[in-house]
Amino acid sequence: MRSVDYVATCNAGLEEIASREVRRLIGSKPKKLHEGAIAFRGKPRDMFLLNYCSRSLHRIILCLWKGRFSDLGDIYRKIRKLELSEYIAQNQSFAVVAERLGEHDFTSVDLAATVGKAIIDSYRASKGVRLKVNLDSPDVCFRCEARENHLWMGIDTTGESLHKRWYRKFSGKAPVKSTIAASMIMLSEFRYGETLLDPFCGVGTIPIEAALLAQRKAPNQNRSFAFENLEFLDLDYFEALKQRLRARERKLKGKIEGIDIASDAIEQARANARAAGVRIRFRRGDATRIGLSCDRLVSDLPFGIRTSPHNLRELYAKFFSNLARCEVKQTVLLTTRWKWVFEDWGEVKQVYEVDHGGIRAKILVLE
Ligand SMILES: C[S@@+](CC[C@H](N)C(=O)[O-])C[C@H]1O[C@@H](n2cnc3c(N)ncnc32)[C@H](O)[C@@H]1O
Repeated sequence: MRSVDYVATCNAGLEEIASREVRRLIGSKPKKLHEGAIAFRGKPRDMFLLNYCSRSLHRIILCLWKGRFSDLGDIYRKIRKLELSEYIAQNQSFAVVAERLGEHDFTSVDLAATVGKAIIDSYRASKGVRLKVNLDSPDVCFRCEARENHLWMGIDTTGESLHKRWYRKFSGKAPVKSTIAASMIMLSEFRYGETLLDPFCGVGTIPIEAALLAQRKAPNQNRSFAFENLEFLDLDYFEALKQRLRARERKLKGKIEGIDIASDAIEQARANARAAGVRIRFRRGDATRIGLSCDRLVSDLPFGIRTSPHNLRELYAKFFSNLARCEVKQTVLLTTRWKWVFEDWGEVKQVYEVDHGGIRAKILVLE
């Protein structure tokens, strides 16, 4: 089977973790394309496994063109040369979603319009048919992104971003993105049978992602994918793949636990875990006082939504002195107050800077 080019988007700053996951899933070796995007080669059917099973990716694009460009006219000529009839049927509609970053003399709307015109002209030249545009609910969605003088363009195989998991019935006040949560669990090197604790669990995202991983449950089940509209794919293979993956699921071994001081968060975490079909022990408790011993402690620390800055500083100090008294193999924390972690804890092994809902945050793997 021939190989194709892929671009996958992920959390900016976590390209290395996304690359490792792609390598584990399909054996390909991705390279960072730009902040929040990696590029790699694979088989067309790899898009099924990547979409269904990846825990750290947001979107998987079947890349049709990538490289340098000089201006909009150049982009038009490059896309106009593509042979698109194998990807989109004559009666299917399409849309183009464009993004750009850097200094350009055009807007993202201009970019989308240029790429759209090139797609229409290319298709008309090869098939004699004018493709229909449908911006609200297209059969096929093309995506392109210009970063300075580099552009990639391809077919979105995902649809709604993969970070939107089906089990999120409650989002709480400051939920961590599921793909950041899953990346933190991967960084903790959590293994099947080990204990994992999130002592500031909110609506339970980290413990739920850990349980899905431990039980080998696909994180992106119970949803549809944009690739289901692509007529050149063998969707029977996807159905068979889902059955094979379901047969590999296993029962939870080891204990996964979530603790939060707010009883409404605990109620919501329990409801989310029920929706995810995983069994986790959620209970109310104060992370500055309870025993924290476990194999992996993975947590998204409070950043001041319910707490005043003064109390927050004290909470960090108390939490780290509690943590120092406990036995934990590996601790991975997400925080916007990383200075306090350095002050209270000292050395950290690894640091990843991420965008946490529009706020600059860091994932810290503690020594
Ligand atoms: C940033 S949020 C965690 C969000 C969570 N990762 C999620 O996805 O919903 C921090 C949480 O810490 C909780 N919290 C604050 N002080 C606490 C304490 N002393 N002990 C335990 N939980 C606490 C808050 O109630 C809040 O739910």
